[in-house]
This record gives sequence, structure tokens and C-alpha cells, in this order.
Amino acid sequence: MNNPFIITGSIPEEYFCDRREETKKVIRTLSNGGNLCLISPRRMGKSKLIRFCYDKPECADNYYTFYIDILHTSSLREFTYAFGQKVFEALHAKSRKMLTAFVQGLKSINAKFGFDPISNAPTFSLELGDIIRPEFTLTEIFDCLEKADKPCIVAFDEFQQITKYPEKNIEALLRSHIQHLSNVHFIFAGSEHHLVTEMFLSSARPFYNSTSILELHPIVTEEYIPFVCHWFDVYERNIDAKDVLEIYRLFEGNTYYMQKTFHEAFINTPVGGACTLDTLRRTIDGILEEASDGYRQILSRIPERQKELLYAVATEVKAEKIMSAGFIRKYSLVSSSAVQAAARKLIELDLLTEEDNVYFIPDVLFRMYLQRLKNTNLIFII
Ligand SMILES: Nc1ncnc2c1ncn2[C@@H]1O[C@H](COP(=O)(O)OP(=O)(O)OP(=O)(O)O)[C@@H](O)[C@H]1O
Ligand SMILES: [Mg+2]
Repeated sequence: MNNPFIITGSIPEEYFCDRREETKKVIRTLSNGGNLCLISPRRMGKSKLIRFCYDKPECADNYYTFYIDILHTSSLREFTYAFGQKVFEALHAKSRKMLTAFVQGLKSINAKFGFDPISNAPTFSLELGDIIRPEFTLTEIFDCLEKADKPCIVAFDEFQQITKYPEKNIEALLRSHIQHLSNVHFIFAGSEHHLVTEMFLSSARPFYNSTSILELHPIVTEEYIPFVCHWFDVYERNIDAKDVLEIYRLFEGNTYYMQKTFHEAFINTPVGGACTLDTLRRTIDGILEEASDGYRQILSRIPERQKELLYAVATEVKAEKIMSAGFIRKYSLVSSSAVQAAARKLIELDLLTEEDNVYFIPDVLFRMYLQRLKNTNLIFII
């Protein structure tokens, strides 16, 4: 059965909600020769927006586009490997001439490519260990793109990951490459807000002032609510706009959780039937249940003091003055220095976020899970 609320794989244009302005800005920035840094909290829609822009004729017809998710990489060597592999795959699908140039250009690992005996095309049979000098190989990859017969767009998704590599000079190294490339434009996307903003907005860092910044906010209610109602309607189901708004409020506009809810609620609503608040409540209970295994795992790995602080912040939703005597007393915490240490650790793990001295749990569903642990009868959506 077709489900118009897509939560995995690529999203056909008609099921992609809004993001018209953002799409324009991405395409405008890149086609003017600039680079772009795309930031948002988790699961707001960065990766899908990049894919969506890549599919637009302005990009698809005029550029070679490359998309590299580097979340799983933990060194320059792995970065280079992932980059090389994605460039290879993309060129394989698009241009035999460029593919050959690419393989020949990678002199540092040239002997390592295989050949398909039937089509005579190169095959990517490289192992991570084949990259002996990643800086050389990286230069070769960039050189090849610089010489390509069409301009290139390279998106590094989860870019903040490079700050976790053991090598210390990665930001400067990449920055120096990027500065010298005129045929290659970049999108850097990332979700760990404190890392990305520091990397691009702190004047002491190599990437400072090198890109336009696009912050992705929740899709506005004026777009999202009609989108949901429309698709329920098309598939002969009914939903009330004000109930869609309740879900929007509950998840604070988080694209993934809203789409997940309506994806499941759609399944739970028969043709000709109505998706009621009760349906939505049951759907959310199901989503929480499904996520709870993962959340339990997270909780099992963090010490008690950090957990106490998490519970306290979850209860407050937006917690202020968490190191004050009042807050510590209210939640029976140990001391302000203990709270400070716990907060620092939780922020590092991305389980807690601080903005202007206000602390909150960035994953709304995790917060709801914690709230429910404290109060098993808690019913979301009123
Ligand atoms: N414009 C949109 N219309 C419909 N659904 C969308 C849209 N943007 C994102 N989504 C949905 O939201 C989910 C999250 O999107 P995406 O993976 O792009 O977010 P992200 O910001 O890259 O997340 P992460 O921080 O985890 O990498 C996707 O599963 C997708 O189904
Ligand atoms: Mg993403």
C-alpha cells in the first residue's frame, strides 16, 4: 500500500513538503560559486534537502553532484576512502570519460583499481588499507574534480565528524584545498549545533567566513498542516487540521517525528475512516515503545549523576539555572559542580543542549520517553 508520508529512502517531489525558499537559496549560493553550510537540529531534513536540490534540473543538468555522509568515519584516511568511493560511484553512473580520468588521476593508488572484464570499466576494489598517504590521495581527488568537464558540487554530510579525527590539522587542510578550487562547490551539513557553529562562526577556526550559512528551521505550520490534510484526503481518509497542529506542537516541528507519526497513523486509519486524536495517541505510544529499546541502552551506559540531571531537565523541558541551589534542591542533585560535570558530559554525548543558559534535551522523543519513565500515566496530546 502506498503511504504518502515517507520516512525511508528518497522522497518523490510530490511527497516532499515545502522547503521552496531553502531549495532556492542552496541552488542560488552554489550557482554563484559559493559554498554553503547547512545546519539544524537532528532530523529536521538536511540530508533530504540536499538530495532534493541535487534532483532539481538546475543541479542535475549542469553539475556533477556528489554526496558523502561521513558520520561513520574517524580518520582522514577513512574520510578520503569514503570520498573517493562516492566520487567513483557517481562518475561510474554518469560519465565513462570522467571515470577513466579519475582512476588515472589517482596515481597514489592507481594499481589498486580492478577492471570489469565484460564492460572494461574500472571497478572499485580498493581497501581502506590501500590508502597509504591520505593527504596525497585527497589532493588527487580534488585535482580530478577541478579538471572535470562540468562544475562539481560536493556535499559532506555530518561534517562535524572531522573535529573528532585524531589528526589535528584537518580543518586547515580541507580549508586550503577548498580555497583553491574554482570548479568545485561545497555543501557542509551537520547537526551537532555547538560543533558546527563553532567551526564556521568562530574567527579562530579555518572555516570562519568561508561559507554562507543556512539554518534549517521546522517546516512552517502553514505548509505542513495542509500537506498532511491533503494527503489524507487524497487517500480517502479524514484528519482534522487542529489535530495535525497538536502533533506539530508536541514534536516542536521536528520533521522526522511528525512524518513518522503520520506515516503510522495513516496505516492505522482505514479507507473512508477518520484519524482521530485517539488514533494519534495510540500511534505515539507505539512509536515510543519502538524507540524505548534504544533509549534504554543509552540510559544503561550513563552514570547515575548524569541520569538524574537528564530526568530533571526532561521534567522542566527548558531548564534554567541548573547549577543554582534552587534547582539542585528541587531535584535532589548532589552539588553545582557535580551538575556542571554531568552537563558537560551529556552535552558531549549530544544528549543535552545548552543555548543561552537554557538546557534542554534535543531529541524530543527521548525527552518524552524520560518524562514517561517518571510518570507512567502521562498522556501526550491533550
Ligand atoms: N521536506 C520534507 N518533506 C517530507 N518529509 C521530509 C522532508 N524533509 C525531511 N523529511 C523526513 O524527515 C526525515 C529526516 O530528514 P533528514 O534525514 O533529511 O534529516 P537530517 O536533518 O539530515 O537528520 P540527521 O540530523 O539525523 O542527519 C526523513 O526521514 C524524511 O522522511
Ligand atoms: Mg542527515
